[in-house]
Amino acid sequence: MNDIRDDVAAAFEQWTGRAPDGIWSAPGRVNLIGEHTDYNEGFVLPFAIDRRTVVALGMRDDAVIRVASTFADEVAEIPLAELSAEAVSGWAAYPLGVAWALGRHGADLAAVPGVDLFIDSDVPVGAGLSSSAAIESAVAVALDEVWRLGLTRQQLAQVGRLAENEAVGAPTGIMDQSASLLGRADAAVFLDCRTLDTEIVALGLADAGLAIAVIDTGVTHAHATGGYRERRASCEAGAAALGVASLRDLGVDDLDRARTELDDITYRRVKHIVTENQRVLDTVATLQADGPTAIGELLDASHRSMRDDFEISVPELDLAVETALQAGALGARMTGGGFGGAAIALVPLEAVSMLQVSIDGAFAEHGYGIPDVFLVRPADGAGRDR
Ligand code: GLA
Repeated sequence: MNDIRDDVAAAFEQWTGRAPDGIWSAPGRVNLIGEHTDYNEGFVLPFAIDRRTVVALGMRDDAVIRVASTFADEVAEIPLAELSAEAVSGWAAYPLGVAWALGRHGADLAAVPGVDLFIDSDVPVGAGLSSSAAIESAVAVALDEVWRLGLTRQQLAQVGRLAENEAVGAPTGIMDQSASLLGRADAAVFLDCRTLDTEIVALGLADAGLAIAVIDTGVTHAHATGGYRERRASCEAGAAALGVASLRDLGVDDLDRARTELDDITYRRVKHIVTENQRVLDTVATLQADGPTAIGELLDASHRSMRDDFEISVPELDLAVETALQAGALGARMTGGGFGGAAIALVPLEAVSMLQVSIDGAFAEHGYGIPDVFLVRPADGAGRDR
């Protein structure tokens, strides 16, 4: 198989007429559990996947940054000193936004050397697998190294999030960049989004004869607009009404009071976050005590909570989850921001082909587009490849 790194190096050379000075990459992620908890300062348990964004970088002898990619014909180019959150747009807002955000985290954009960046990716776009965080994290590790900034992985995650929030304009949390930067093979990243403390939690999927399948419904979503932003606002309103700084400060025991003090919709939004935080903690404890075969019911409960209380699922995602469970999955849930994208299923290896057949049949019967079904392996986070 062709290595995407060879392709990126060749494309860089064709574009600039010289070989790149280095190649860096960063993965997409699957969130195992803990949805919409990150911007509520709660807990998440994502893992980096074996699909990556690759960046070839070459130094320039001026102070200009240029980015080209396989996603668009246009090359974006701007003097580093002129970077601002407003000066960038389109797909280039991701890489250029990171360069700008590094300026906010200590890079002297008037002094660092210019760079050419060529970007390619095999993280599917719009599937809820954080193709955007993969771009941000790959560019962040590359620029951190060549600009000799020495930022920590946690700081680089904040850089990526700042780019996403201010340059792209999506009000997302810190989970995706953290997973992409901190992931480890065969493990998940247990992240406390308040303190940014992380713990690597072994998954042991292969040893247990299990795999994680992604079922990409092809239903598209955009987090810069619409439901994501609205859910975030409901969470903030719920926290304010209950007199806490964030929903992280509430536990399952506080839900009776929440029910009497909040309107029904806000209550159900709050209930999802509070119970989801508890499910993340329970999943970590269960993985450590009993291994991955024991977490299925927690995944299912998470999906029900997103479907019924947080209301971010769509019929295609519900069908994917139901069908996966009928085909022998131990647990299944939608993953990511919702309103489309992908579901994940925890499946015994011997049930994988049955899963594919069942999904195809069920979606055809409902007249929905046939999803892409593929396995993902928990992989290492961002780094230099060459
Ligand atoms: C998107 C955002 C994340 C997180 C998830 C929902 O992936 O980018 O920050 O909020 O949705 O858990």
